[in-house]
Amino acid sequence: MPLVNSKELFEKAYKEGYAIGAFNCNNMEIVQAITEAAKECNSPVILQVSAGARKYAKPVYLKKMVEAAVEDTGLPIVLHLDHGADFEICKDCIDGGFTSVMIDCSSKPFEENIAITKKVVEYAHAHKPYVTVEAELGTLAGIEDEVKVEHGAESYTNPDQVEEFVKRTGVDSLAIAIGTSHGAYKFRPEQCTRDPKTGVLLPPPLRFDILEEVSKRLPGFPIVLHGSSSVNQEYVKIINEHGGALKDAVGVPEEQLRQAARMAVCKINIDSDLRLAMTAGIREHFEAHPDHFDPRQYIGDGRAYVKQLVKHKITDVLGSNDKI
Ligand code: G3H
Ligand code: 13P
Ligand code: ZN
Repeated sequence: MPLVNSKELFEKAYKEGYAIGAFNCNNMEIVQAITEAAKECNSPVILQVSAGARKYAKPVYLKKMVEAAVEDTGLPIVLHLDHGADFEICKDCIDGGFTSVMIDCSSKPFEENIAITKKVVEYAHAHKPYVTVEAELGTLAGIEDEVKVEHGAESYTNPDQVEEFVKRTGVDSLAIAIGTSHGAYKFRPEQCTRDPKTGVLLPPPLRFDILEEVSKRLPGFPIVLHGSSSVNQEYVKIINEHGGALKDAVGVPEEQLRQAARMAVCKINIDSDLRLAMTAGIREHFEAHPDHFDPRQYIGDGRAYVKQLVKHKITDVLGSNDKI
């Protein structure tokens, strides 16, 4: 099976009330961990590549590694550009064999966002085979590539704008801002309450009212959530117990993501959780084996942790297991 775009995957996910995991990949071990987990769960999967990943690993390596994963697993895999900043980067990825792109002009004025998104959609849809396009309305807090949006400067998606945006751009899916944010520090401590027993921060709930309103305006249309790592505390604990210093790292509770996946959300983006799992595996390895210096030993442990985490996400959060 060749790489696929997201169209049919989202149609089935929408109808059956689950979401496809969109996991960021930056190196071979991460690609293997994600796709081996998806294979064992019999799940479709999206592998996404940010500008930072392109800079780190070079687009050609990422593309070839994802193609190798397709050959190795036989799964329906989407190769997706994450947060494409302009038309040129989207065009470059479409020409280079990506099957899906995100054009992210969410920080630009509405009309400019529409104009650039429309230009990308026209180019992507004229491509054979058809490349699917995701765009974004509203801004998330947190850090993505070189853009940092301070807490308090984020803005929720305005449901009054979504119909016009989708109609005028022809976009295939829409990322919305309902309270998720990028990175491992999604909420300021003062936005949260603290669990008196564990001392762990409990974040404010996502704005399901906005999601509901958006899906009423766009019936049957796939919605995307960025910034959806849950910052699983078992990994934070391992990291901190093995020399790390992650204070008050907090994410989106998994039950809320499961609820979103049952609604109109068909794609859930996860990156930080993979980073935490990889780091936990490596830190634990080094503490247990201070004499080791073969990267296959410690990165291999990191890869095993990422694989375990992705299996958990697929079966317990996304609900995309056994959907092939
Ligand atoms: O949205 C942000 C993703 O986590 C990608 O992060 O730009 O550091 O590769 P990155
Ligand atoms: P997290 O930082 O929550 O993993 O979000 C990743 C993301 O949205 C990539 O686009
Ligand atoms: Zn994102």
